[in-house]
Amino acid sequence: MVTTNWNRRHILSLADFTAAEYDTVLQTAASFREVLGRRTKKVPALQGQVVANLFFEPSTRTRNSFELAAKRLSADTLNFAPGTSSLTKGETILDTAKTYLAMGTDMMVIRHREAGVPLAIASEMDRLNTQVAILNAGDGQHEHPSQGLLDLFTICRVFDPENPRLDLLRGKKIAVVGDILHSRVARSNIWSLTATEMELHLAGPPTLLPKWFAGLGSDRPGKLFLHWSLDEALADADFVMTLRLQKERMTNYLLPSLREYHQLYGITTERLKLCRPDVKILHPGPVNRGVEISSELMDNPDRSLISQQVTNGIAVRMALLYLIGVGKGG
Ligand code: CP
Repeated sequence: MVTTNWNRRHILSLADFTAAEYDTVLQTAASFREVLGRRTKKVPALQGQVVANLFFEPSTRTRNSFELAAKRLSADTLNFAPGTSSLTKGETILDTAKTYLAMGTDMMVIRHREAGVPLAIASEMDRLNTQVAILNAGDGQHEHPSQGLLDLFTICRVFDPENPRLDLLRGKKIAVVGDILHSRVARSNIWSLTATEMELHLAGPPTLLPKWFAGLGSDRPGKLFLHWSLDEALADADFVMTLRLQKERMTNYLLPSLREYHQLYGITTERLKLCRPDVKILHPGPVNRGVEISSELMDNPDRSLISQQVTNGIAVRMALLYLIGVGKGG
C-alpha cells in the first residue's frame, strides 16, 4: 500500500489538485482495486475511525460506495437521512454537522444541492480547531471531486490497470457531451482531465455550454475546446463521456424536446463511427436511456465503461478515505 506524504485533509474541489496528488490517488486506488478482487475484501486500515455520510440530496452510487469503501477499510459508518432527521424540526446544517462531530466522527462525506455547503462545514470544523475531514460528494453544480477522480482512474486503467497514472493519457482525446452548465461532474472532470496532456472537447447546446467554459482550460497541461456541433467533438475521440440533462438544476433554459436533443446530442453506435475504432463510453450516472445515450450502446460491454466506473468508485473512495485517515493516525 502507498504510504506517501499526503497532506490534504478536506477534499472539496479538484481545482488545485497537483499532478503528484492525482498519481497518489490513482496508485492507491489501484491497490484497493486489487483488494476488491480478493475473496477477503476487508482491510483493518481505519479500524476505530468513524465515517458519516451526510447526504442532503438523493444518491445511489456515491452514498453507497462511500459507505462500502469505509466498511472495507473497517471504519464505523453513520448514515444521515434528511427526511427522518432533526432537520425536519428546524436544526441547521451546521448544528447537524456539530452533532456528528460530538459523536466522534472523523470524516464527513457531504452532498447538498447548494454549492458551497461542504466548504462551509469544513470552515466551521477548522474554526473549531477539529481534525475532522470533509469530503465533497457533490455540491450543487459546483464540483463532484470523487467522481472526477474515479473517471480519471477508469480512463487510465484502460491503458495500464496495474499502474494507472497521468502520463498514460498524453495525446489522447476525450469528448464530454451534454448539459455541461449544470454538471458538477463536468466541472471536476475539467480540472482532472486538463491536469493530463489530453485534449478535452466539451460539446452541448449553446444554452448548456456557455462560452466562458473555454477560460477554465487556460494555463493547464491539457487543451480544452468547446463545440456546439457534436460531430466536431467526436472526431477521432478515444473516449466519450455523456452527461444527463440535470433538469433539477435548470431554471428557465430553453431546451429542445428530448427527442430533438437525442437527435442532436445523443450518443449512439452510429455516431461513434466518427471516433477511433476502440472508443470507450463513460457516464457518471444516473442514465436517462434513449436521451443522452442509446440503450443499446449503454449495454454494449465492448464500448461501455459505465459498470467499471461504479466498481472503480469504491476503490477510489477507499483511496481517499485511506489517504486522509492514515494521515490522522488511523
Ligand atoms: N454519479 C453520481 O453522483 O451518482 P449518484 O447521484 O447516484 O451518487
